[in-house]
Amino acid sequence: MVTRRYPMTGDSADAAGIDAAAEAIAAGMLVAMPTETVYGLAADATNAAAVARIFAAKGRPRFNPLIVHVSSPEAAERIAIFTPKALSLAAAFWPGPLTLVLKSVPGSGIADLVTAGLDTIAVRVPAHPVAQALLTRCGRPLAAPSANRSGHVSATSAEDVAADLGEAVAVILDAGPTPLGIESTIVAVADSEVRLLRPGGVTRQAIEAVIGERLREAGPGDSETPQAPGMLAQHYAPAAALRLDARDVRPDEALLAFGLPLPPGAERARAVINLSERGDLVEAAAHLFGALRALDRVSDRIAVMPIPEEGLGEAINDRLRRGAA
Ligand code: TXA
Ligand code: MG
Repeated sequence: MVTRRYPMTGDSADAAGIDAAAEAIAAGMLVAMPTETVYGLAADATNAAAVARIFAAKGRPRFNPLIVHVSSPEAAERIAIFTPKALSLAAAFWPGPLTLVLKSVPGSGIADLVTAGLDTIAVRVPAHPVAQALLTRCGRPLAAPSANRSGHVSATSAEDVAADLGEAVAVILDAGPTPLGIESTIVAVADSEVRLLRPGGVTRQAIEAVIGERLREAGPGDSETPQAPGMLAQHYAPAAALRLDARDVRPDEALLAFGLPLPPGAERARAVINLSERGDLVEAAAHLFGALRALDRVSDRIAVMPIPEEGLGEAINDRLRRGAA
């Protein structure tokens, strides 16, 4: 299949791309859709054959459930059962980089393959205007994992999508680099408690401020927690070995820097990419996956400077620790 790529620039010419993408979705094909976090590999969530193509394209094991993207909280309520806490989180953070794992509405038409047979469903209302336009135009939920091959870091540009998935994608909507660059925060919301399944674009502190209680961790002994691929230790691994909290650069290493000054030995690093020279965590998150892909190409060892465990630093360190595992 020939992949068609449409530049999305925010003007009226974008309609041609949205039309082509909506037609591909209706025909059961795959579309690379920009979101504010990372690019998603989207298919009609009610079409089991289309959803199966996602797994084939990613080379992802079948039992991993997917996030369902919808255009509005009202559309989310047709497929997921909202507790009062879920309603407050949706009101505070949607549209935006928060995924809620809730009990699913039986008989809502979502393909079983999307939820991998669980009685819960992961839903999110993305904020990116191109994702919004596509969801509205399709008028149905779109299942979309990150648009990378299984085990690779998430794709934050149309070039990354094309390099990873090539011809498996019918249409790529190219809106340039994604604004946040790190995936959504995933929380499981039950009547009694809210558990953090994956740190991401909405910080722990922001969520705790809305629910008025501490977020619980999803532990391995937690029977309600499925083995989500985003939670497997090696999920985000680049090919290179990552050495975290590096305070020097050793021979043959590339340096993933954060802030200034650079550590001793940086002058002989294979390559240096600074996630944010001014030490800004938002800027660092946006550059993280692109930097890992770039350094992966020049060295098989990457030294990573310490990154503070606050705000978006929690999600950045989570991805780096998985990459190092
Ligand atoms: O920012 C994002 O979340 C991006 C964009 C495209 O929306 N999507 C994304 O999807 O990162 P993916 O498939 O790469 O990661 C989704 C995570 C997986 O770890 C999956 O197992 C988990 O969500 N998940 C999905 N449904 C779940 C459920 N019912 N219970 C627990 N975890 C679930
Ligand atoms: Mg992923």
